[in-house]
Amino acid sequence: MNLFQPELRGAAGPDGPQGEVEKGSLIVDDVLRPQEATDAPGGDEMSRTPEAVREAERWTAHNYHPLPVVISSAEGAWVTDVDGRRYLDCLAGYSALNFGHRHPTLVAAAHAQLDRLTLTSRAFVHDQFADFCRELAQLCGKDLVLPMNTGAEAVETAIKVSRKWGYRVKGVPDGQATIVVADGNFHGRTTTIVSFSTDREARDDFGPYTPGFRIVPYGDLAALAEAVDETTVAVLLEPIQGEQGVVVPPPGYLPGVRRLCTERNVLFVADEIQSGLGRTGETFACDHEGVKPDMYVLGKALGGGIVPVSAVAADAEVLGVLRPGEHGSTFGGNPLACAVATEVVRLLATGEFQRRSAELGARLHAGLRGLVGEGLVAVRGRGLWAGVDIDPALMTGRQACERLAARGVLAKDTHGSTIRLAPPLVVEAHELDHVLEQLAAVLR
Ligand SMILES: Cc1ncc(COP(=O)(O)O)c(C=O)c1O
Repeated sequence: MNLFQPELRGAAGPDGPQGEVEKGSLIVDDVLRPQEATDAPGGDEMSRTPEAVREAERWTAHNYHPLPVVISSAEGAWVTDVDGRRYLDCLAGYSALNFGHRHPTLVAAAHAQLDRLTLTSRAFVHDQFADFCRELAQLCGKDLVLPMNTGAEAVETAIKVSRKWGYRVKGVPDGQATIVVADGNFHGRTTTIVSFSTDREARDDFGPYTPGFRIVPYGDLAALAEAVDETTVAVLLEPIQGEQGVVVPPPGYLPGVRRLCTERNVLFVADEIQSGLGRTGETFACDHEGVKPDMYVLGKALGGGIVPVSAVAADAEVLGVLRPGEHGSTFGGNPLACAVATEVVRLLATGEFQRRSAELGARLHAGLRGLVGEGLVAVRGRGLWAGVDIDPALMTGRQACERLAARGVLAKDTHGSTIRLAPPLVVEAHELDHVLEQLAAVLR
């Protein structure tokens, strides 16, 4: 059984229409081929993959359309499936695994904490809390931190804090606060956040929508300046739009946003959930342009790929607007989360991961640029983060990901013909070269 053949998945999945996939073309390269592997996941009669995929589909809502790869273990940049096939993980949990799978320092911190204390709620203080908040605040160059769990919760926190700041500090009339966001944004999945999404799949059928958001074209300073008025409390942006296909704004845009926000007394809120924490070759994507937002929104890699940890970081005149009872989370800032995330912050404080991302990212981008005109039509990104547009005449992004998976490389498509490459920052140069070779072979 070959799970990459479209007839087994139906003609069209939630990620769009599935074109034909060549039969018999799913070759796993020798370097990656484990002893017992056959052509592709599910290609062996004894394979455990088809049944595991069927069971997962049988018992869950179909809110994802995963590649049929059933992962059972992982280490560093590599994962292994239930049939013993190894894959280089070039998605890295949408950048939640910047430090690789099961980084030994992070796993040791988790184990040690599991043996002592896991949950207190914020009704009490625990002994891991202050270290985490202080070290993260210092990494961000901010006075205060507010920890949550998922990225969407941190974005919600940023929205609530911005509105409250607007009413209490800026003096916006009650109930009239507006927040300016960008076209093509992705900030999460709550009802308020999808209210200002421009992606119909994310938004349609989930109304009624939360008011108070204005959407402007990403990268267009003039449009932003026009949208900001005396009711505006914040501009909420991804410094690089990840889910949109790793879209980097034009040079000067982020400094321009910074200037505008300062001039008009508006908070610049940078959603660095995917772009931050080393992914782009700096601690934050805003650093590339020397920009300091008023509030960082962080998540994903903050939990070290072990626990969900998110946070916002801002100065006291912003985050200090919250009073007891106005916002919170049972699990936010729990001892296990703090123990792991403190070690994440310490890993970042060494600068090693940012350096690796910058150096290896240059190698990745040089290689990808070499494929433009050879099956790729465009390449974008920074550091170890790339969005590549496949020539739609050749195949869809989904098909490219299927063929890459059959060659032992995991990546994720978005918006039809784009695929994202974001390997863990522990990836080695020769492994990146291998990814480039596999991509070239897929495009041939
Ligand atoms: C920029 C950005 N913000 C927010 C989120 C939402 O994070 P979560 O899925 O943890 O809620 C994501 C997730 O992909 C993201 O990329």
